[in-house]
Amino acid sequence: MRLVLLGPPGAGKGTQAKLLRDHFHIPHISTGDILRQAVTDGSVLGKQAKEYMDRGELVPDSVINGIVKERLAAEDCRAGFLLDGYPRTVAQAETLETTLEHRGLVLDAAVNLQVPRAELVARLSGRRTCRRCGAMYHLRFNPPARDMICDRCGGDLYQRADDREETIEARMEVYDTQSAPLREHFREKGLLREVDGAKGSDEVFEQILGALRKAA
Ligand code: AP5
Ligand code: MG
Repeated sequence: MRLVLLGPPGAGKGTQAKLLRDHFHIPHISTGDILRQAVTDGSVLGKQAKEYMDRGELVPDSVINGIVKERLAAEDCRAGFLLDGYPRTVAQAETLETTLEHRGLVLDAAVNLQVPRAELVARLSGRRTCRRCGAMYHLRFNPPARDMICDRCGGDLYQRADDREETIEARMEVYDTQSAPLREHFREKGLLREVDGAKGSDEVFEQILGALRKAA
């Protein structure tokens, strides 16, 4: 299974990706997670990416495409993969398609999570993430049992730097202008599967599985 998860910031891509990864036993490749790790590590990539991420802008295609290309060449991607947060521009989608084509592969589906704007903002401003294991919480929708402590591993929870109000607004604008056109791109290829992402997590997951069964 070779999948792409589309949707605006806060649509639940990361949340659903973890469920899909466990269901299909395929690697979850999140460009956002890769970049945040690089920032934490203080690598050259992290230093380059941080200023864009802090402003809510996209990291240049030339940087991102190389990272994904290298990741997709790894052994664990042979049986499939799930991309979360990539592609994010039509140019990235075309690069991905060319990369796959050279290896005789095609995408199976691009799942788009639709969520109203007000709900996205509420989700992002209440999101908390575990620094140690990456588990995701929400102060209102999925709170941890103990304040700012991960239920799963006991690690500290933190708020992402780009989840501040001004940056959320910038990210939404970037999504509207640069990423929303991807829906049309994948619709034309017959790969787009629209899902109502405003429902609870389990229901959204069932809808995605249903959409993929229909596509098969
Ligand atoms: P990235 O990390 O990809 O961020 P994003 O696309 O803005 O999306 P988020 O991770 O914020 O949201 P999500 O859809 O994963 O939602 P989540 O599951 O966490 O990118 C960050 C930055 O990196 C970009 O701005 C850019 O600078 C750079 N970047 C990354 N990829 C790039 C690329 N390809 N090209 C260029 N630059 C790139 O859920 C959100 C919250 O809602 C959580 O608290 C969760 O618990 C809660 N929640 C989830 N589902 C539900 C539900 N069904 N009901 C109630 N609450 C829910
Ligand atoms: Mg995410």
